[in-house]
Amino acid sequence: MRILIVYTTRYGTTEKAVGLVKKLLEVKGHNVEVRRVEENPSPSGYDLLILAAPVYRDGPHWDLMEWVEKHKGELEEVPKAFLLVAMHLAGSVFMGKLHGGIAYAQPLIEAFEVPPFYGTLIGGEIDPDKLSDEDRRKMIRFYAVLGERLEKKSLFSEKDVEAFVRRTLLYYDWFGKHFKRGEVEKAKNFDFMEKVRELERTLG
Ligand SMILES: Cc1cc2nc3c(=O)[nH]c(=O)nc-3n(C[C@H](O)[C@H](O)[C@H](O)COP(=O)(O)O)c2cc1C
Repeated sequence: MRILIVYTTRYGTTEKAVGLVKKLLEVKGHNVEVRRVEENPSPSGYDLLILAAPVYRDGPHWDLMEWVEKHKGELEEVPKAFLLVAMHLAGSVFMGKLHGGIAYAQPLIEAFEVPPFYGTLIGGEIDPDKLSDEDRRKMIRFYAVLGERLEKKSLFSEKDVEAFVRRTLLYYDWFGKHFKRGEVEKAKNFDFMEKVRELERTLG
């Protein structure tokens, strides 16, 4: 399969995750190209597109969202999966509204007519000493809202990146390849639980 990974990063964690995704996909025999959103790559001509970005200010990094906006038409034609990197992984309900966790992915789902067929959130890293003064101030506020203090921490796990790659390939085989314009109907009636029962039968 020809796969394009489009990503952005500010402090390198997403880049580290993307490097591992590339390596794992190549081991499986796929042809992988990695491009930064800032280079404004074209998403046409690939079997699968992987979008990767850190979460900043409660959403996927704006550079990725701007690229998505620019290439909307082409993006509807290609099956997409996404990987977001964040610190507030569990998420919470705040004043009756979903906040953080996978809810950070909402703009990436709503940006498309044909949505990504799979996506997840993995843990990032924060090192106060490496942040710009402005980012440090923002992160102090971010943790204050959670009732915590800003300190160096890492939630990054290679196992989570491996799980992302495994599931992206599995779900691509099951239904992801139909997630392009004109083909979504084929995937609409996909019965997830029936697939699980079928697998159970084959596993004995
Ligand atoms: C200014 C700033 C804002 C951030 N906002 C959020 C946020 O809203 N939610 C969250 O879970 N993590 C937030 N983070 C944490 C980043 O997602 C995390 O540090 C990530 O690993 C950064 O990835 P990168 O190194 O690829 O830029 C923020 C970090 C910074 C520096």
